[in-house]
Amino acid sequence: MPDATLAREVGLRRTFAIISHPDAGKTTITEKMLLFGNAIQMAGSVKSKRADRHATSDWMKMEQERGISVTTSVMQFPYGGRIVNLLDTPGHEDFSEDTYRTLTAVDSALMVIDGAKGVEARTVKLMEVCRLRTTPILTFVNKMDRDIREPIEVMDEVEEVLNIQCAPMTWPIGMGRHFKGVYHLYNDVLHLYTQGQGSRIPDDRRIEGLDNPEVEAVLGEDLAEELRMEVELVRGASHEFDHAAYLRGELTPVYFGTAMGNFGVREMMDGFVEYAPPPQPRETDTRVVEAEDERFTGFVFKIQANMDPNHRDRIAFLRVCSGKYEKNMKMRHVRIGKDVKIADALTFMAADRTQVEEAWPGDIIGLHNHGTIQIGDTFTLNEEMRFTGIPHFAPELFKRVRLKDPLKMKALQKGLQQLSEEGATQVFMPVDNNDLILGAVGTLQFDVVAHRLKEEYKVEAVYEGVNVNTARWIYCEDVKKLEEFKRKASANLAIDGGGYLTYIAPTRVNLQMTQERWPEIRFQPTREH
Ligand code: G4P
Repeated sequence: MPDATLAREVGLRRTFAIISHPDAGKTTITEKMLLFGNAIQMAGSVKSKRADRHATSDWMKMEQERGISVTTSVMQFPYGGRIVNLLDTPGHEDFSEDTYRTLTAVDSALMVIDGAKGVEARTVKLMEVCRLRTTPILTFVNKMDRDIREPIEVMDEVEEVLNIQCAPMTWPIGMGRHFKGVYHLYNDVLHLYTQGQGSRIPDDRRIEGLDNPEVEAVLGEDLAEELRMEVELVRGASHEFDHAAYLRGELTPVYFGTAMGNFGVREMMDGFVEYAPPPQPRETDTRVVEAEDERFTGFVFKIQANMDPNHRDRIAFLRVCSGKYEKNMKMRHVRIGKDVKIADALTFMAADRTQVEEAWPGDIIGLHNHGTIQIGDTFTLNEEMRFTGIPHFAPELFKRVRLKDPLKMKALQKGLQQLSEEGATQVFMPVDNNDLILGAVGTLQFDVVAHRLKEEYKVEAVYEGVNVNTARWIYCEDVKKLEEFKRKASANLAIDGGGYLTYIAPTRVNLQMTQERWPEIRFQPTREH
């Protein structure tokens, strides 16, 4: 018999992450969402993280901030009768592979765009990652209190650069100093902007109906007329909202506002809890897991190290995919084939880490980890299966590691092996020489690795530049072709930390030419754990 409580809890959950370019307003909008979710004390902790953001990318400093970063790694708050889980996607100096992998653990994403800057590089990249699982995207065009670009132009750019249709849900009335509010195209309600309400839940001053004479009274004859014409034009020239197309990742509903002014955020959130999907089915190597399935399952998408300086603990972040987690339950750690009793999983509901009594699909729990849990690990109730789709991503930054004391080679190799299993970095060993090359997607990853090698493995390593621009994992069914490729391309081949053959390309052009020359070989930008 289906479990009604489970089905209800699943229906309540909305698990998402924000994708944006640095400075578009992710932190600010997070604060406002927490404010609406009445998690005000956390809003403060997000802020203090931001205050230190421009500090140097110094790992020691990061360590001092660790307490903050863990509580903001996952934020759970109620909104509109739903339970929202917001997973943080590190974006500034702390941008790393975790950012990408977090996107594999959500059911939808909110794209925040700076209205003056339009679509920026990091957003393009994160969108590519969302596309790996056709993640539905909702859009917020931010900074309407500034003179931004024409809203229609911003939407055109989103459509063109990100290859997704835009359906405006709200429409801005003016911008910059003349920003008056937004008109909801589907509810036929004008929401009026009042300045200076950024740090509290703003009053909702509204006018019902675009044809309401109050519109003239508030906006004046000319502006009211202009707005009506503009709305008609926009309705004719843009896509209509189509829920199914949104869920397929083909169309994004677009909301306008100012995160700093805390305006337009409420309308966006109302749309979000209404349209964003609840916990979705997930693929494994044996079956598709439905969230309503009573058998507990989950996977680890992130490991955070050394969060408490007094204990050398690491927290593994597990996304619950089906069933219910209960305190003291036994689960199967599939990779090592052992049942483990989890008595002290963490939840992220309050400002502090607290112990969780129960968790449902879509929720994230933190497991204490003493080195036995790796990224991508699956936990089940006695079932032999593994979740797929939590990959390694091809690094974009590379450095050669050199030891200060050559006798420490063993310790270095052990350290790098463990750190790469945790997802802190990726390691590549060229087949033609004895180099050790580290790969990352964010520069801080290198600092973290150097620091942890020193603290945890007593190894002093220094980095050198290396002529590698990107990496691709190599697959080929034709054994003879593969052997030929290995011989001829050996100068650019390496084995990664998991033992997989990788092509490490000195330039993009080189990669492209090699791909053209070897059509039988697959050059994959991701690899499963
Ligand atoms: P991020 O997390 O995406 O990197 O962006 P964050 O929220 O930190 O915002 C980046 C900057 O943009 C901040 O200014 C923030 O105040 C500003 N900002 C965010 N939303 C809006 C908005 O709606 N309108 C305007 N005008 N500005 C906005 P900062 O000067 O870097 O920081 P701060 O001194 O304001 O804290």
